[in-house]
Amino acid sequence: MVIRRLICMILLLIVTMAAPAQQETGRRLFMQYCIWCHGEQGDGNGPSAEGMFPRPRDLIRGDYLIRSTPHGQLPTDEDISRTVAKGLPGTPMPAWEKILSEQERGDLVTFLKSLSPRFETEKRESLTIPAAAGSIERGEEIYRDSRCYMCHGEAGRGDGPITTTLAFEWGFPYQARDFTRGWTFKGSPEIDQIYLRITGGLNGTPMGPYRDLLSDQDRWDLAHYVASLDEEPSSTSEDFVVLAAFREGKLPVEYDAPAWQQTQAALIPLAGQVIQDPPVRWWTPTTQSVTVRALWNGDAIGFLLEWNDPTGPGSEIPDSALLQFAAQPGGRPYFLFGDAHNPVKVWHWQEGGITEEWVANGSGKIKTAPASFRVTSSWAEGRWHLIFSSNVTDGLPPMEGEFVPLLLSIRDGANGEAGNTRAISTWLWTTLAPPPSLQPWFSGLAGALGTLILLLLIFSPKGKPDE
Ligand code: HEC
Ligand code: HEC
Repeated sequence: MVIRRLICMILLLIVTMAAPAQQETGRRLFMQYCIWCHGEQGDGNGPSAEGMFPRPRDLIRGDYLIRSTPHGQLPTDEDISRTVAKGLPGTPMPAWEKILSEQERGDLVTFLKSLSPRFETEKRESLTIPAAAGSIERGEEIYRDSRCYMCHGEAGRGDGPITTTLAFEWGFPYQARDFTRGWTFKGSPEIDQIYLRITGGLNGTPMGPYRDLLSDQDRWDLAHYVASLDEEPSSTSEDFVVLAAFREGKLPVEYDAPAWQQTQAALIPLAGQVIQDPPVRWWTPTTQSVTVRALWNGDAIGFLLEWNDPTGPGSEIPDSALLQFAAQPGGRPYFLFGDAHNPVKVWHWQEGGITEEWVANGSGKIKTAPASFRVTSSWAEGRWHLIFSSNVTDGLPPMEGEFVPLLLSIRDGANGEAGNTRAISTWLWTTLAPPPSLQPWFSGLAGALGTLILLLLIFSPKGKPDE
């Protein structure tokens, strides 16, 4: 009896002593890794927070987005632990699973909870996830009946009529999620997780809970429908080659023509232009990826560029897009408009039907010429579709049997993007697929060049060459 009581006391002592120790380790890790954004107090006012969108969270208030609990409740320990491990995709909040061990992440959770007194008093209970089958078709009906499209758009691209007027507490524009880009889901695009977001909402945002409005089955069907809209499950394309497929006859000018849709698409990630300052290093571009397809018919070549843009045309600053080619065969020019020895040729399109061609030897040395290419553009349901076309021998470097460096750049006027304030890709390569009769030799060549390109990507220095 006495021994049992003694054991109980020792165990209790270990538990109560372990918690502060964990909290202390957690605090130390927080000071090392997290305060840059979340601030020393955890109030979201770290030195890097200025101008960040979305803002780092004020962790004292206890408003968590990613929870398995009902609306208004705090998250469970597992929820927080998951977010710290996976980060919040599509936001500056990094994933820590490769940097911090499971133990360290657990200690951080203990510390994070100590920041908000709410954790001591408020209950937290996980919602149950249905085990039943879900129906995408029924989900689509519920999506319409529940008017999700008012914010998320008819095609789920986050371009609903309310979305541009949404505001968050800090006065930043707040946008409904674009369901076609699964990799930007803050809580992951798995069906279970989508179900939890629909059921419990995202605390402190316009995304409310549907637990009391829809049955379990309705929300489960909705989750299946939302998941079915995902066209971009991962953010990066391994494919750095834009291959122009060969097709007899006229190149189609409608983006939804079967010839375009049957052509292999490359999904190219974009990032803000953060090298050149002034005018401004750009950390928060709206366009995070662009899909590219290319076709040629022996004479003409066309590039179809498509990207999601909820705000579309009509802003004060026009939207624009740039295709930049190395102007002569050989190495890769400096990515910002080339350099003294390696000029680039730029096809520039601006909303309103304006096209221009530039030949540049660096940002300060751009000469404008009449466009040797044409663009047909349209914007529908939150997505731009642009077809650039030109004569294949007219104005482009020789492409037959050659891999020509190509770089893409997009400016979203509604996001204040103009000049060098833009989203930009790395250098890609583009080439012509030979007509069917010549294809066997090509696949061997493509394989060899593919390996070469990969090696170049891995080993090429990133620095700026002499101008
Ligand atoms: C580069 C900036 C940055 C760093 C570094 C950073 N965070 Fe964040 N964090 C953010 C941003 C931004 C958000 C809010 C995103 C949003 O609202 O969508 C956030 C949100 C969170 C949230 C809220 C999750 C939710 O469900 O709402 C937690 C918890 C969090 N961070 C923990 C951490 C921890 C722990 C560290 C250090 C290991 C850390 N963060 C480091 C930027 C950062
Ligand atoms: C009033 C506008 C509004 C309505 C109506 C709305 N949402 Fe949302 N939704 C949002 C906003 C804003 C966000 C993003 C919040 C954030 O990032 O913090 C969001 C986020 C989401 C997410 C989160 C995905 C993730 O993990 O990042 C899902 C899922 C979702 N909504 C589904 C739905 C469904 C299904 C409906 C209809 C039943 C719906 N929403 C109705 C505004 C809305």
